Amino acid sequence: MKSSLDNADQILKEAANAVNTAPDIHAIDIIKSTYLGKKGKLTDILRKLGGLSEEERPKVGQEINLIKEKIVNIINERSQILKLAEIEANLQQESIDVTLPSRGQAFGSNHPITKVQRMLEDFFIKMGFTVVEGPEVETEFYNFTALNIPEHHPARTAHDTFYFHDDTILRTQTSSLQIRSMEKMKPPLRIICPGKAFRRDNDATHAPMFHQLEMLMVDESVNFANLKWLISKFIESFFKEKIEYRFRPSYFPFTEPSAEVDVKWKVGDSWRWLELGGCGVVHPHVLETVGIDPKRFRGLAFGFGIDRLAMIYYGIDDIRLLFENDLEFLEQF
Ligand code: DAH
Repeated sequence: MKSSLDNADQILKEAANAVNTAPDIHAIDIIKSTYLGKKGKLTDILRKLGGLSEEERPKVGQEINLIKEKIVNIINERSQILKLAEIEANLQQESIDVTLPSRGQAFGSNHPITKVQRMLEDFFIKMGFTVVEGPEVETEFYNFTALNIPEHHPARTAHDTFYFHDDTILRTQTSSLQIRSMEKMKPPLRIICPGKAFRRDNDATHAPMFHQLEMLMVDESVNFANLKWLISKFIESFFKEKIEYRFRPSYFPFTEPSAEVDVKWKVGDSWRWLELGGCGVVHPHVLETVGIDPKRFRGLAFGFGIDRLAMIYYGIDDIRLLFENDLEFLEQF
């Protein structure tokens, strides 16, 4: 009995010494298992109590349990101190040097198409126009039929339409918004509709998704000369410097007469004409479809490619560059 207790006392001294000199919390964990673990020194003594007489066993057991409790207390106290020291050390190490220069902030910017679209909107808002938007998923009625493009008209195939099912498509032109707007608004009206259009096209000047700016003006006593004036003013103001452009007779089922507008632009070393879009006097059939009297009112309209305007404005020679989301390219603008 005496020797078990002596041993236990010895172990207490040893453990206390180890705990007090433990450099960190990790060392404490090791001490814990060395003395109190399943194969620990004190556990070993407790296990051997079986060899004592029945009288001695509870007494010695109690004593040893007291010693165990002491060791647990010493460990807890020291752990507390070491943990605090660790936090303190971390704080010292991680301290923030407020005198360091900051890393700076990367600011996003608008896409060149958005920038051009805003410039266009600004110009037309100043001229008294209202900006109108509408659905990109359209019905054939708004995209074709109401625009005087009959069922089997070649213009429908020329547009190479993306179909969802029979009657539902991705709009091939923002002209659909002419119809939607005239259904809702009474003339006189002046609107512009910037938006996306979709066609099965893909080359340097055509993308399957592109942007158009539709203009529609319905009023009494307006004519093609007014349309030419508006377009000329718009082109001259948008490009600021002198730019060469031309009106070329053309055909659209929803305008009569119709024209296309081309702008001279430089590709490499040579100058070429780039088609901006079409324009014309709204066909009387179109006005009738939306219940506007063509004898009293006349409509003037155009639909220009916003991406084309951006290409000329910024000197980009491939439309697809605009849609590749290459930040290095986009950050130039
Ligand atoms: N929607 C035509 C196209 O995408 C362009 C157009 C032509 C729009 C004449 C018009 C217009 O408003 O009057 O090819």
